[in-house]
Amino acid sequence: MRTSSNYTYHPMIDKTYCRVLMVLVLMMSVAYTECPPECTCTLDIRGRRQVTCTQGGMINSIPTLVMDTQVEVLQISAPDENQNYLTIGPIFQHLSHLEELRIVNSNVPATGKHSFWGVPTLKIIDLARNNISQVLESNFMGLANLFELYLDDNRIESMHSGTFRHLQELRVLSLTRNRITELAPRLFLKLAKLQKLDLSGNSLEELNREVFKDVQVGIVSNISTVE
Ligand SMILES: *[C@@H]1O[C@H](CO)[C@@H](O)[C@H](O)[C@H]1NC(C)=O
Ligand SMILES: *[C@@H]1O[C@H](CO)[C@@H](O)[C@H](O)[C@H]1NC(C)=O
Repeated sequence: MRTSSNYTYHPMIDKTYCRVLMVLVLMMSVAYTECPPECTCTLDIRGRRQVTCTQGGMINSIPTLVMDTQVEVLQISAPDENQNYLTIGPIFQHLSHLEELRIVNSNVPATGKHSFWGVPTLKIIDLARNNISQVLESNFMGLANLFELYLDDNRIESMHSGTFRHLQELRVLSLTRNRITELAPRLFLKLAKLQKLDLSGNSLEELNREVFKDVQVGIVSNISTVE
């Protein structure tokens, strides 16, 4: 006959059981949070890990903390009938494989001071169709490998000399359909490798050759001047 002591409450076993359960729950939540519910997570045609959020209705911050840290391509946009209102800041640092970042049509008001600091893997940044009115040199610090920068269809009016000087590998700079009326001297300082510069759809008043001193001749496409 068994003694009743076999069935007494044993705090050690209870603790272990609890711990196992906690680990299980944690593992499940990690697996679950790898793809934010409003996004889809797939591989792109080149086999890169891609997170795409296109439903719209995203407010304030981008859920980068619940994304797979191995993500290589992150793209966010919204349909006009369900707009995003997003801000960006230093929220990409833990995505150590991020190559391509596209946040378009999302009412982003600014690029943020150190948003891309600590993400040297970035090759393409596309912030077209937002509400950015100012870009500063400090916005682009740490982007030592950036190849393409798209800031089309924003509200940029002017930029200081040397705004892009941290982007020494840049090949494409597109600033079409902003509100740029003049270009500061040496604006394109350090952009010696640039192959395409598009400034069309702005209202540039006069073009001083000094402005283009730092870039190769013939790469500037379709500059629209006031008639
Ligand atoms: C866009 O920016 C302007 C000023 O820069 C501001 O008045 C307007 O409210 C902004 N729009 C949105 C949707 O954030
Ligand atoms: C040049 O600009 C004009 C007017 O802004 C536009 O109609 C034309 O398509 C542009 N051409 C190229 C090659 O971008």
